[in-house]
Amino acid sequence: MDEFQRYVERIPKIHLHCHLEGSLRAQTFLELTERDGISTRYRPGEDVAGPRDLDRVYAFADFQEFLLTFAAVSRALATPADYARLAREFVDDARAQRVVYGELFISPSVWAFFHPRLDLGEAVSAIAGELKAADGAEFRLIVDVTRNFGAESAMRTTLLASQLEDHGVIGVGLGGDEARFPADLFEDVFAFARSQGLHCVAHAGEAAGAESVRAAIDILRAERIGHGVRALEDPSVVELLRERKIALEVCPTSNFLTGTTSRERPHPLQDLDAAGVCVTIDADDPALFETSITGEYLYAARNVGVDALNRFILNAVDASFLDRESKQALRGRISAELRAAGANALGDVRA
Ligand code: HPA
Ligand code: ZN
Repeated sequence: MDEFQRYVERIPKIHLHCHLEGSLRAQTFLELTERDGISTRYRPGEDVAGPRDLDRVYAFADFQEFLLTFAAVSRALATPADYARLAREFVDDARAQRVVYGELFISPSVWAFFHPRLDLGEAVSAIAGELKAADGAEFRLIVDVTRNFGAESAMRTTLLASQLEDHGVIGVGLGGDEARFPADLFEDVFAFARSQGLHCVAHAGEAAGAESVRAAIDILRAERIGHGVRALEDPSVVELLRERKIALEVCPTSNFLTGTTSRERPHPLQDLDAAGVCVTIDADDPALFETSITGEYLYAARNVGVDALNRFILNAVDASFLDRESKQALRGRISAELRAAGANALGDVRA
């Protein structure tokens, strides 16, 4: 283990862009699909066989196939008990990595697509119960509306989100196929979400370009952007992000594996940071991308440096939806732990 690894393992971590379903352990996915006699692959309108070996169940070639893999995982989560297990294992994995705070995406419209009789409130309640039991870490939920199901479904999902405050739901997001279902379809949905006191975020600048990031800000009034890396295609959009202090939740491994950014070059997160954009480091769907929040922090530390990583972590505190006092307390705790970890683990990498 080198100094970077030692350092990254020790430091506190924050998830601002992590899909709970996309965190399902491959082993659990296999068990659930075996139990229900379903494939590990999902293709609309056809039955396809899927691999059953652990290291291949989450294989996909591009963004579209990734979305179908996400759907296959959601299909395997059939009952409130399955959602409780998903959350329980997530909490175990998060605690082992010293995650102290997270705002996690859930996609109930995808659950309902596969399981129309599933009581969505009960499933969210099962998740919330497990998340509340995590000691040393706190979690909130963001209901990710799926673009592919259109505006009416999005409105129903947002209405559901507005009724789940007691289960820690604090906002709505927008995921799915960004290129085919642009932001303007969801303007009314996000206006409704805001009227209900829900925070608004959106995936943008991942499968579509800089204009999609601008639309998420101007039309949806997104407070943070998931990915957003393709903002770099238009300097005026980068400037908009900087000026409005809208954070980008940057997920390097996700971007490499979906083809959002080239694997031949280092991830452009350094360019965004250098341009003055508020960058956070996130894992997206860690199990599907065979990564972890620790792995993404390690990538940032190796490629941009430990001081930059520390800044990205404190950016996540600022960009979180915690209230002012909680942010201040968390910032104090994290700063102290980063200093202590640096003093203990960093020799040459700092020098
Ligand atoms: N982008 C779009 N949709 C998604 C993602 C993502 O990163 N993760 C899960 N659904
Ligand atoms: Zn995502």
